[in-house]
Formats: sequence, structure tokens, C-alpha cells
Amino acid sequence: MLGSWQAKLVNRIEDSTVRTLKMQRDCVDFSSNDYLGLARNPLFQGDLMSIVLKYPSALKGATGSRLISGNTRTQEEVETFLAQRYGVESALLMSSGYIANLSLVSSLALRGDTILVDELIHRSVHDGCQMSAATKWKFRHQDLNHLESLLKKARGQIWVLVESIYSMDGDYAPLADLIDLTEAYGANLIVDEAHAVGVYGNGLVYEQGLMSRVFATVITFGKAMGFHGAAVLASQELNDYLVNFASPIIYSTGNSDLMALSIQAAYQFIDKNPTLREQLQQRIMYFNSHLKRTDRKVLFSAIQPVIIPELNKLKSTAEELERAGLSVYPVMPPTVPVNTGRLRICLHTHNSFDEIDRLTTIIKEYL
Ligand SMILES: Cc1ncc(COP(=O)(O)O)c(C=O)c1O
Repeated sequence: MLGSWQAKLVNRIEDSTVRTLKMQRDCVDFSSNDYLGLARNPLFQGDLMSIVLKYPSALKGATGSRLISGNTRTQEEVETFLAQRYGVESALLMSSGYIANLSLVSSLALRGDTILVDELIHRSVHDGCQMSAATKWKFRHQDLNHLESLLKKARGQIWVLVESIYSMDGDYAPLADLIDLTEAYGANLIVDEAHAVGVYGNGLVYEQGLMSRVFATVITFGKAMGFHGAAVLASQELNDYLVNFASPIIYSTGNSDLMALSIQAAYQFIDKNPTLREQLQQRIMYFNSHLKRTDRKVLFSAIQPVIIPELNKLKSTAEELERAGLSVYPVMPPTVPVNTGRLRICLHTHNSFDEIDRLTTIIKEYL
């Protein structure tokens, strides 16, 4: 008799949704989050190498939780750099975006509070909700009327969580409208900028001049910034609170200085190379014009979902793309809702127009 966890795995194998780890391959990259190509850019790698040569001690581990032995001047200096860049009181570095969301939600939302999340919010937010004693309600994706109907019923402190660019759909949140609505109900809005940082300058909240009107933003550095790590941008009071009450920060080894310095180097690199963003936008427009896609919600997005609800067809499309040397990730339920399995196509500065032609030619056969 199989234990229930084993039965779950067998179910996945039987319904063809099992996931396996695949080695990075030398394929044309239409699947990574390395939108600006920093992770593969030899010049950026050179900058990282210079950091290591200049500060070899940056390579060492933090040696303990940041609250015990893991805090350093370098990390605080990079936090000051981030806070100044974004015009906020405080930036708190975290080991990843997952940990940042987990820290915020699990520590802030207390018993009697209400958490309102877009139904397509990242898993890390849901996991944070599970660690919290607050009530969680989901609102329909990007549906502000539905959000308002829940705001009317919410109790305690209200926490609203959205992404500025949704990771599986690539669409943008109507940030100004969300802010007006949450302000009207005295709710605290937290925006996850994981897929906007770098692709849209400092991120959409910043670029739209809205930093002072959100409770906090989460920025991450494992995607367009080509490295890893994250930061919470907020008031000093909030970040003081996180250091005191967020278990994922308190009970875990801190970060290396290399992470902090690499993040700073990534911002300096994209400042020096403004054409990277332009190159990316050209490729996005080229892709959309070839597939005659006109949906305004994803017109300028580096994430372009192509929905193929039938799972076998989705898989065979991905396999054919792979045989053609193109790496595209098929995303299946439960990562996305049932009947919305999709190719999650990510466009990058390093994709040539010829590669995009090859991609769209195959996709057209399956649509
Ligand atoms: C919207 C969103 N938030 C947070 C994360 C987690 O960020 P990280 O990869 O830095 O843990 C991701 C990554 O998958 C994401 O897509």
C-alpha cells in the first residue's frame, strides 16, 4: 500500500504531469528569466570577476543568521544604495524573492486580519498565507470589481498582494487603479516586481512614480538582473519589524557579500547599457507581429504565453520545439489553472530574429 505522498507522485506520473529536473542544455533560450541576458553576458561576468578579485572575502558564507553573525557593512551599504535609488526609507536584502514574500505575508498578517490575493499570485505568497493565522481570500485575476467586493467584507488589517507583471501570463497590473482602490479601503498594498525589475528600469511601481503610495514592493535579482537574491523596499519601521518577526530571515543563514555586491553591479551594468532594454522590446514586437498578437496586456511583455489547453498537444509542441533546438517551457496545471496549460515563451536580448522566426513557424503549425 503506497503512502499518500507516494500515491500523489504516482498520480502525477499517470496523468502525465510529473516534473523532472532537466540539465541546462545548449539550446536557443526561450525559457529562462534572463530577459536582458546578464547571466550569460561575458562583460557582466567580468564585472563579477573584478568584485571577487577586489574583495575575495565577499565569497565567504555569512556564518550565521543576519541577527547573530551574518550582518556586514557591505550588505548595509548595498541596502543604502537600493533605498536611495528607489527613493524609499529602507531596503532589506533577502536570499530570494520566495523568502521575501514568505517573510512579509507570514509575519504581517495576524489572526483576525484579511489577506486578499490575485488568484494568479506566485506560490510564495500562498505559502506565506499558510504560515499566517489570517484569513485568505482570492480575487479573480486583475478583477478590481471583485477585489472591491472583498475589500468591503474584509476584517482587521487588510493586506492586498499583486504582481506588477504576472509570471505565467506576462500581463501588467493596473497599479494606479489598485492603489486608488486599496487606499479608499485603508488596505495595505504589496507589489511583487519580480518580472518587471530590469525589463522596465527599476520596475513598474518606480517607473510610474508610485513608490510612496504602496506599502512595500518586492524586487528580485534572479531574473533580469542575472544573479539571485531579493529586497523588500519599504519604510524603516516595516523592515525593523521584519528583522524582529519574520522567521525566514531570523532562523536562516544570512547572505554572502558577493550577492549584495553583484546586485549593485547588475544595476550599474544596466545603467551603462541602456540599449539592452531597447533590444528586448524590438524582439517582443517582432514576435508579436509574426504571430499577429495584439493583446495590449502583453504587447510589451518579455513573457508571452501561448495557451494550448490539451496537455498532449502542449507536450508534443514543446518536444518539437526542443528537437528544433529551441528551449520553451510547457507549463501545466497545477502551476496554472486547469485547461490553461501553455508554452511560457520568454523573450530575451540574446534571441536573434532568425531564432524568433524558427519559433513562430513551429508554433503556428500547432495553433
Ligand atoms: C512573481 C514571482 N515572485 C517571486 C518569485 C520568487 O523569486 P526567487 O526566484 O528570487 O525566489 C518568482 C520566481 O519564480 C516569481 O515569479
